[in-house]
Amino acid sequence: MNVRYILKSRPSGRFSPETFERVQDDLPPLADGQARVKVAYVSLDPAMRGWVSPDTKSYLPPVAIGDTMRSLGIGIVEDSRTDAYSTGDWVTGFTGWTERLDVAPGQLTVVPPTVSMEDYMGVFGLAGATAYHGLVKVGEPKAGETLCVTGAAGSVGSLVGQIGKALGLRVIGIAGTPEKCRWLVDDLGFDAALNYRTDDLDAGLAAFAPDGIDLHFENVGGKPFAAALRHMKAHGRMVMCGFISVYNGDRPDEYPDMTAIIRRRLSLKGFVMTDHFDTYPAIFAELGKLIAAGKLTYRLDVVDGLDQAPVAINKLFEGTNTGKLVVKVVDA
Ligand SMILES: NC(=O)c1ccc[n+]([C@@H]2O[C@H](COP(=O)([O-])OP(=O)(O)OC[C@H]3O[C@@H](n4cnc5c(N)ncnc54)[C@H](OP(=O)(O)O)[C@@H]3O)[C@@H](O)[C@H]2O)c1
Repeated sequence: MNVRYILKSRPSGRFSPETFERVQDDLPPLADGQARVKVAYVSLDPAMRGWVSPDTKSYLPPVAIGDTMRSLGIGIVEDSRTDAYSTGDWVTGFTGWTERLDVAPGQLTVVPPTVSMEDYMGVFGLAGATAYHGLVKVGEPKAGETLCVTGAAGSVGSLVGQIGKALGLRVIGIAGTPEKCRWLVDDLGFDAALNYRTDDLDAGLAAFAPDGIDLHFENVGGKPFAAALRHMKAHGRMVMCGFISVYNGDRPDEYPDMTAIIRRRLSLKGFVMTDHFDTYPAIFAELGKLIAAGKLTYRLDVVDGLDQAPVAINKLFEGTNTGKLVVKVVDA
């Protein structure tokens, strides 16, 4: 018997118990040309809130009502009737919220068992790829510049700041709790951290970036984004990675003064990593070097059991995840 979660209804705010339905059914006998995968971990990502919205113009089509909830994941091939996969292969990609699934060649990517499966969901997964591609390829940082990153203690933001430090930037992080701000400065080597809930962001940015921000990496939107915009240097660049504060349909807690883009001749560029899957191996090679050199650390927040996924996903929107949020599904 296989357990999976389907999308039952589209939420109007946060994910709720009514959003998903637990389904138990039998997989059909494995077809020729397919492989059966046992899912070990699934990744919980802010983008999943967008995937259940009815927006048909986004970078991925909406998850259909009644379909298995879409998610990234990693698993192990249990049985194979195709040359594309061998029993025991580790495979990653869009597994969805299910204990098992049958896949066709090309549907999931085989990865070597050289790091842990959890790491493939974090630093060697979407978060690491996003941080590196967004900062290095989109942001084009130069040593000596001042970088500001919001959502700084999250899985993407914490990697962005550390990669920035490794590249010789001055790094200011904006996060939501004193513990997260301490972690950024004391453990990750950020030059400064501001708590957007309690600190005066204008005073803090004026103090830590007196000449302005050269490069800004945006993960959350709202008040921290509005503050960063006020402190950008002329001709500064803004990498638009995410706007989690409005994914649930909330109005921004502060509207930015967009005239700053003109007055200070700023460049803003958005990107989505699903456009760049081909770049992942090269990025992971670079991240591996930074880890080996002791310049990159990360933390994982592992939730036990697929049944926890529908509730645990809201940790991302409450700010209670401490690191990359993943669900352990079944023992690999
Ligand atoms: N463009 C891409 O291809 C791509 C790929 C991956 C991720 N992303 C985006 O990157 C961002 C970070 O994703 P992640 O996976 O690394 O998640 P994460 O940062 O590990 O977790 C989400 C964090 O967002 C913060 N947050 C939640 N609601 C907020 C609000 N209203 N205002 C300010 N901060 C809020 C919380 O931290 P605090 O405690 O600090 O509030 C929370 O811990 C998201 O916007 C996501 O959509 C984009």
